[in-house]
Amino acid sequence: MKERKDRFMTLLMSTERDGIIKTMQMLERIGFFKAPASSKFHLNYEGGLLEHSLNVFDMAMDIREVLIKRTPDIEEKLPVDSVIIAALLHDVCKADFYKPAMKKQKNKDGQWEEVKGYDVDYGQFPFGHGEKSVIVLMKNGLKLTTEEALAIRWHMQAWDIPMQSAEAKGNFNKAKELTPLVSLLIAADGLASHVLEG
Ligand SMILES: [Fe+2]
Ligand SMILES: [Fe+2]
Repeated sequence: MKERKDRFMTLLMSTERDGIIKTMQMLERIGFFKAPASSKFHLNYEGGLLEHSLNVFDMAMDIREVLIKRTPDIEEKLPVDSVIIAALLHDVCKADFYKPAMKKQKNKDGQWEEVKGYDVDYGQFPFGHGEKSVIVLMKNGLKLTTEEALAIRWHMQAWDIPMQSAEAKGNFNKAKELTPLVSLLIAADGLASHVLEG
């Protein structure tokens, strides 16, 4: 856990972005490093969100490398500091919404038992998912680029888009056109959540 946290901090610091130190202090304050990544799915234990964020970063850098091999021009559209910021901070919204709770779950013998889990409480700042991450980061003084903000805003497209209005779908399609960072983050998050951590 300590090694993961150190790696996370070192990566963020390497961006030298305005507001990054305040961001790290804020993450500590809101419980980011202790939060799980989900209530009952991937990495639903203390520190899971930190682990997930690093998995998304590693996956995003691997995909970026493949993309650059095939399309060298794309490198300048996917700067490493933007991949670090988008991947490590996309789920900041989750840091304060899981509350520890006992959950009923069937064990391998088919018997119900109580296990430690989490309830979700959106009460702190019910602003959406990607939207909340962007607002929390910006409100706290992190200077996100437009591309990073778009990638973080739209990273949940698989869940969000079917329910959205035509206008929202239009915005999402435009965001993908404007920067490959949107598609990169969606792919890395999906592969980390459902394949690596599934
Ligand atoms: Fe997310
Ligand atoms: Fe995620």
